[in-house]
Order: sequence, then C-alpha cells, then structure tokens
Amino acid sequence: METKIVSVDNHMDNSLSYQQAVDILKSGEVVAFPTETVYGLGALATDETAVQRIYDAKGRPSDNPLIVHIGRQEDVDKYALNVPEHAKALMERYWPGPLTLVFHKRPGVIAENATPGFQTVGLRMPDHPVALELLRTLDGPLAAPSANRSGKPSPTEAAHVYHDLKGRIPLIVDGGRTGVGVESTVLDMTTEPPTILRPGGLTREMIEAVIGPVHAESKTSEGEAPRAPGMKYMHYAPESPLYVIESDEAVIQRAVSSIHEDGKRVAVIGPDEYGDSGADWYFSVGARSDQQAMATNLYNAIRQCDETEADIILAVETASTGVGEAVMNRLLKAADGKRF
Ligand code: TXA
Ligand code: MG
Repeated sequence: METKIVSVDNHMDNSLSYQQAVDILKSGEVVAFPTETVYGLGALATDETAVQRIYDAKGRPSDNPLIVHIGRQEDVDKYALNVPEHAKALMERYWPGPLTLVFHKRPGVIAENATPGFQTVGLRMPDHPVALELLRTLDGPLAAPSANRSGKPSPTEAAHVYHDLKGRIPLIVDGGRTGVGVESTVLDMTTEPPTILRPGGLTREMIEAVIGPVHAESKTSEGEAPRAPGMKYMHYAPESPLYVIESDEAVIQRAVSSIHEDGKRVAVIGPDEYGDSGADWYFSVGARSDQQAMATNLYNAIRQCDETEADIILAVETASTGVGEAVMNRLLKAADGKRF
C-alpha cells in the first residue's frame, strides 16, 4: 500500500486533510497523527477490525492494551465506570495533556481487542491542536499506540513514522515535531492510592501536587508481572548496544578512549557541554540542566545513532526527578539496564 503524508503544519485551511483522515478512519483503516508527546497510530476504538490493523502494522504483541484518545473530558463516562473524584481533579488540572488515566471499563463499548483481556481502559485527551481537531471531526474515540514499529523508539516527527511504517499504513498527518518527546504518564486510578504504571511527560510531582502521594510500579519487587504490559517488552532499542554513562566529562572521555583502544567506534548522546569528548558522533540533546530538552530530543537522537556506523552508543544520564524520571526509564530500557 502507498503511504501518503498530508501536512497540516501551516496556517492554511486544512479541513480537507482532516476530512480525508476521518474518511480513512471511518472505513476501518489506520492513520498516524501527532500528539504533544509522540506520534500515534490511530484506529476507531469501537471497530475491532480497525484496531487489529494497528497491531499488524506495528508488529505489536496483541496482549498489550492500547490507550484510547478522546476529544472531550465529558466522554470519559462513555467508556469508563466509577470515575473517582480525585481523577476528576486531575482531568480538570492536566487535560488536555500527557496523562493517561486507567479506569474500570464500561463493558461493550470499546472493541475487545483494544484492551485484550483487561477489565480496565486507559483514557487520555491529548494536548495537540491536530489530534484534537482530528478527534472533533471524527466525533469518536481513537485507540492509538505510538506510531513506531514495535521495539523501536517512539516517533517524534512524521519522517520517523514514515521510516518505520511506510507501505504498511495509508496516511500520516504531519503536524511537525512533537514537543514533550516522551509518552504520557500512565496512572492507574483503580488502585488506592493510584499507581504510576509508566512515568511520562507529566511528572509525579505534578500529580502529587493535586491528589497527594501515589505508588510507582517501578518500586514493586523483581519478577512481579508489570500491570502496564507494554513495560515488559524490549523497547526503544537502537541497532548497536547502548550503555548509560555517568554525567561527568572526564568519565566520558575515558570511556571513549577505551572504546577506541578496542578498535571500535562510538556515538554519544549527551548534553551540549560534553561535545568535545572525542566521540566519533555526538548527538546533543540540549543544555545539561534542561531535562525537558533531553525528553524532547532523546528519541530522535537514538534514531540518529542508527544512521551512523557506531559499534557502541553511550547515553549520558540525568537525575530521576521531574521529567527525568521518564527519560531515565526509557534510557535504561534502551540500554536493557546496561551501564558503562
Ligand atoms: O503519549 C502516549 O501515551 C502515546 C501517544 C500516541 O498518546 N501513546 C503511547 O501508547 O505511548 P503505547 O501503546 O505505545 O503505550 C501505552 C502504554 C503501554 O505500556 C500499555 O501497556 C499501557 O500504556 N496501558 C494501556 N492501557 C492500559 C490499561 N488498561 N491498563 C494498564 N496499562 C495500560
Ligand atoms: Mg509505544
């Protein structure tokens, strides 16, 4: 199949492009579109055949539930049961935004394969004008995982989606680069207190400021099945092995030298300040103190490493606070836990 790209990243009247995307979605096909976090691959969440096409296009394990995107807060009650008061407080404060809330699922509305075997549903209202306009025009819920091939970093530009899914999906709506850069925070509202199943673009501090202390899935003991099944799979992995390394210029320079002594080439992902480390390729992700810039640029940097001849990739760590919690979660997954 031919993959078309329509750009809506301009000030012209784009209503025909949205209508084209909606026609494709209503016919039971998938469409990639930007959100404030990463690009999503959407299908009408009430259409089982359409939802199956998401798994097929991505090569995604079919036991991993999809987030359902909605355009209005009022729609929550169409898909969820027993929405607690503190969830309403979070929605008032942070929707639209990078926060997915998991609720008990209202039976018989969302296609069964969107939440395979789950009695719950993850809902989110994305904070992106293109995603919101698409949802308004469609007037229905969009099941949408990140629009990458399963296992690869999430796409933060239309070109990433095209690279991964060309020939496998009919349409990419191009709204330019995404801003947040890491996926939404997934918060399970069916536990008391609520549990962060995946750290993401909305920080734990921001959640706790509204509803008080929450649990974190990462703190559960080794071997326990993660309740966001997506977290158990190999993720975000570049083609060459990636190692996390301490944020210290001398340590990085020594690591680069020792890799060179082994006759290997190295790409480094790090802040502006360490660009003189002697690496064969250096991909800067912003100023050292700017964790949001690191989130915004991380997946693109990992993809850029795949365009090099590097044998080893080093990625400079950041503090696990604020959005750094999501950045370090993704980096350690990309590294499969390895540190240099
Ligand atoms: O920012 C985002 O969340 C992006 C954009 C496109 O919205 N979407 C995204 O979707 O990252 P995906 O499918 O790549 O990741 C969804 C994560 C997975 O780890 C999945 O297991 C978890 O959320 N999840 C979804 N529904 C769930 C549910 N009902 N219960 C537990 N975990 C759920
Ligand atoms: Mg994903």
